[in-house]
Amino acid sequence: MRFVVLGLVLITLINCRPESRYSGSEAIKFDQYMFQGEQLYIAHCINCHQKDGSGLGKLIPPLSTDFVSKQKELSICGIKHGLEGPITINGITYQGVMPGNARLTPLEIAELMTYISNSWGNAYGITKTTEVSKILKNCAD
Ligand code: HEC
Repeated sequence: MRFVVLGLVLITLINCRPESRYSGSEAIKFDQYMFQGEQLYIAHCINCHQKDGSGLGKLIPPLSTDFVSKQKELSICGIKHGLEGPITINGITYQGVMPGNARLTPLEIAELMTYISNSWGNAYGITKTTEVSKILKNCAD
């Protein structure tokens, strides 16, 4: 009986992992994006948004919410070109300025987006490079 319970717990845990929705080459791609995305996050974002994506009080908004995935265009254009002006997340209005990262490629932005939208409780799956390229073409200046 104990083993049955343990087995059920394990199956539930495995199914809860966001990568479980992928198999084969998609699963490998997801793992690569997560790994590279974390390195990029450490290099470019962690100082402001923090290790756990929680941000910094009323100065820096968290990334650990569904905002990033629900506002993909704004997030992707913001990462590339910067973001400024009022933005409300979880009832707090931020009036900050985020510098752009003009040198990041569409692949790197896809890796970053995949990392931040599948960390800290988020599980929104892969953001594809083709999707990033398409969105970047339409960013407002
Ligand atoms: C200098 C500090 C700083 C750095 C570095 C920084 N951000 Fe931000 N970020 C901000 C601020 C401030 C805002 C809110 C801007 C506003 O008020 O419009 C923001 C907003 C965002 C948003 C949209 C709002 C949200 O919380 O979901 C995303 C997505 C985001 N940043 C991702 C990133 C990523 C990815 C990186 C690294 C490539 C990064 N940021 C680097 C300060 C920073």
